[in-house]
Amino acid sequence: MSLLSTKALVKYFGDTHAVDRVDFTVTQGELLALIGSNGAGKTTLVNLISGLLRADSGQIHFQGTDVTHQSIHERIAEGIARSFQLVNLFDQLSTLDNIALSIFSREGKTRRLFALADHDSAVQDEAMAVLRQFGLEGKARMVAGGLSQGERKLLDVAVAYALRPKLLFLDEPTSGVSTREKAPIMDIITSIVRSGRITAVIIEHDMDVVFKYSDRIVVMHEGAVLADGTPDQIRTNDQVAMTLLGTHV
Ligand SMILES: Nc1ncnc2c1ncn2[C@@H]1O[C@H](COP(=O)(O)OP(=O)(O)OP(=O)(O)O)[C@@H](O)[C@H]1O
Ligand SMILES: [Mg+2]
Repeated sequence: MSLLSTKALVKYFGDTHAVDRVDFTVTQGELLALIGSNGAGKTTLVNLISGLLRADSGQIHFQGTDVTHQSIHERIAEGIARSFQLVNLFDQLSTLDNIALSIFSREGKTRRLFALADHDSAVQDEAMAVLRQFGLEGKARMVAGGLSQGERKLLDVAVAYALRPKLLFLDEPTSGVSTREKAPIMDIITSIVRSGRITAVIIEHDMDVVFKYSDRIVVMHEGAVLADGTPDQIRTNDQVAMTLLGTHV
């Protein structure tokens, strides 16, 4: 069953055809990898779907609803969330409060930006439970700015996860972390996504990671979808190999 679909989605920046008539579908329950060279249009596509950018033309349907013209907040309420290629955290707030803020915003509550979690034990408990899932409970009181790069990437995913999305976009959740740290981070993320029955789209450059964790792979090139298939189909696709060769060796 299709959870999300875009139809002829277009976003140009001047002469750059960042997203060029893209038909993109996400099926309920899958873990989909979105890959492609630098500048292929992956982040722009996610920005369009999550509502950070407005499409020039085309449509986006989520669970049968046309969300093309909805605001970010309306789309979050529908169940679409995303993490960021460059993490989007409140560095002066504690790790716990970063999660608490996400829970508050999900519930439409507004709070002052200090000592957030201390004043609401239900939110504090929920935020701690999320941190525990991500292995960050020991860092709950540390300011987010003091975390390691790997911990920051995990926290950024946890912030999006705390919105309790049905569809979660993860834009390079392991970028900037060492090769050694990639597998543990992906293990945590994929086990949470699968046990929570969340449909997820992961943008990732590391092909070992892509082949190991994804059910299906969509390849973008110069704003268009170049290929779409199982890991085996993509691994043996000559056009994909040629397009990606030399870019991510
Ligand atoms: N705000 C913007 N203004 C102008 N051009 C942009 C903007 N955002 C993206 N672009 C251009 O659109 C194209 C697609 O960029 P995008 O960030 O979507 O690629 P990507 O596939 O996510 O690449 P990467 O793997 O490097 O993150 C690029 O040519 C980029 O320079
Ligand atoms: Mg990108």
